[in-house]
Amino acid sequence: MAEVIVALDRPSAESAFDLVDRLGSGADYYKVGMELFGRAGPAFVESLRSRGKRIFLDLKYHDIPNTVRGAVEAAAALEVELVTIHAGGGSGMIRAAVDAAGARTRVVAVTVLTSLDTRDLSIAWKRDVGSVEDEVVRLAAHAVTSGAHGVVASAREASALRRALGQAALIVTPGIRLAGGEQGDQKRVATPTDAVRAGATHLVVGRAVTAAPDPAGALSRVLSEVSAAARQP
Ligand code: C5P
Repeated sequence: MAEVIVALDRPSAESAFDLVDRLGSGADYYKVGMELFGRAGPAFVESLRSRGKRIFLDLKYHDIPNTVRGAVEAAAALEVELVTIHAGGGSGMIRAAVDAAGARTRVVAVTVLTSLDTRDLSIAWKRDVGSVEDEVVRLAAHAVTSGAHGVVASAREASALRRALGQAALIVTPGIRLAGGEQGDQKRVATPTDAVRAGATHLVVGRAVTAAPDPAGALSRVLSEVSAAARQP
């Protein structure tokens, strides 16, 4: 069944642990991103690990191969299960990351951020981008051919990715919203049901849970949607 990962986008270790305590045994897999890592660093990751939690370290590495190799080695030493790199970093960088990850850490490549749409891409790349999906699939195929264990994209592209990448690739989908939830700064959002049906292996859930008045209740709605969708043929 698809894994649900809660994004701990919090400004301090204290507020992050407050949320971890509120979610209790309902959540065992957390994403630590730039904000929290910038404030609380490796010590936070170690203490979350010592509580038995699994970790996705989402620092989106994008640098020369030698630098990314060192960064991924450092992440693997923290016993994180997933790390992110950017798919556009070149095959040398992707190979260096996978090499450094060792046997237990998986490397997933960010294709196109879920906060971007065709208009944003056309402006940034100075060419007419007609379909985000085509760009996501192109970047994902390049990343997986270069050795990445999987990719990060929105659930809207997950079916096309599953067709293009085959069964083994991890497909990590942020931008998850419960039906009727706030989109915030995300442009390509989907419900947990849609993400599972489209073939996502990991659903990253941030504000839909963390900003809910009852985070544990919101998480249990997400988990029941995921298990119901997994049971459907
Ligand atoms: O709050 P929300 O559910 O939108 O948070 C999504 C999380 O997933 C954030 O931590 C963000 O950094 C991350 N993410 C994303 N799009 C990507 C990769 C990661 O939104 N392509």
